[in-house]
Amino acid sequence: MLRAIDENTITDAAIEQMADTPNPRLKQIMEPLVRHLHAWAREADLTPEEWLQGISFLTAVGQKCTAFRQEFILLSDTLGMSSLINSLHDKRAAEAGTKSSLVGPFYRTDSPPMKLGDTIVTKPSNGVEVVLYGRVTDKTGKGVPNASVEVWQPDETGNYDLQKHDPSEMDLRGHFHTDSEGRYHLRTVAPLGYMIPMDGPVGDMIRAQKRHGYRPAHIHFIVGAPGYREVVTALYLGNDPHVDSDTVFGVTESLVTSVKEKDPASPIPSLPSIKFDFQLAAATAKDMTGRVGADPSQIVAKA
Ligand code: BEZ
Ligand code: FE
Repeated sequence: MLRAIDENTITDAAIEQMADTPNPRLKQIMEPLVRHLHAWAREADLTPEEWLQGISFLTAVGQKCTAFRQEFILLSDTLGMSSLINSLHDKRAAEAGTKSSLVGPFYRTDSPPMKLGDTIVTKPSNGVEVVLYGRVTDKTGKGVPNASVEVWQPDETGNYDLQKHDPSEMDLRGHFHTDSEGRYHLRTVAPLGYMIPMDGPVGDMIRAQKRHGYRPAHIHFIVGAPGYREVVTALYLGNDPHVDSDTVFGVTESLVTSVKEKDPASPIPSLPSIKFDFQLAAATAKDMTGRVGADPSQIVAKA
């Protein structure tokens, strides 16, 4: 007998038609997606015009993507999805470690290799010079030697190199390795907070919602070592006015830090410093990447 399709029976009808999906994980992801999507349309009592407007919005999001711009990730970030996926990823770890935060759109895979103590500032800068230092440890507090520490950040005006120079010229990025006791230190300038890219459909959404669009001042890191789960994270400056209202929900309490003057434990006590110890969880066979995002040019290249 033919099924009567109405605003409620349509959900089971759509799910039943997908019942033979051979890939079990695809099935497990798609069924709840349809259920929640339908429930959302019912709850909002969505009209055809509104759904078409949504489709136009998503089309514009796709059309805004280029080799250096990933508007879909920005949408995921501003809807809290990237942060939610990071929290689920952290919960899956076999051991506690430093919490994840967003990759963001300004990561580049091939940041320059540097020696401990080097500065990542390669262009003239009016920023306040600071030292970043600390250790990379395992869950017992033992230092992890030769751990990879990738760092990237905006400058003292809140701009990344990608927003200022020819993209082939890198600035405020570096790739370091910890010493035999898991220590790292580098020199940089204190970053300023900035507005997420607002010149696309996601910016229109943010304005329509009367949100400020700012991210608090932060420094990005990817830290890893063989046998450990890679952590993609960022440190946030606690004195930034937007530290508790990040537009992309990257801030969590344990990642908030501050610049200290004359810290006697700093490797360069004459400069202001930020100290942060990263804790890596042991890797398990099931561990996959925690990067919600990537070098944008590589996302487009793979597609
Ligand atoms: C960033 O931290 O670079 C960033 C993250 C999400 C959206 C926009 C920028
Ligand atoms: Fe950033």
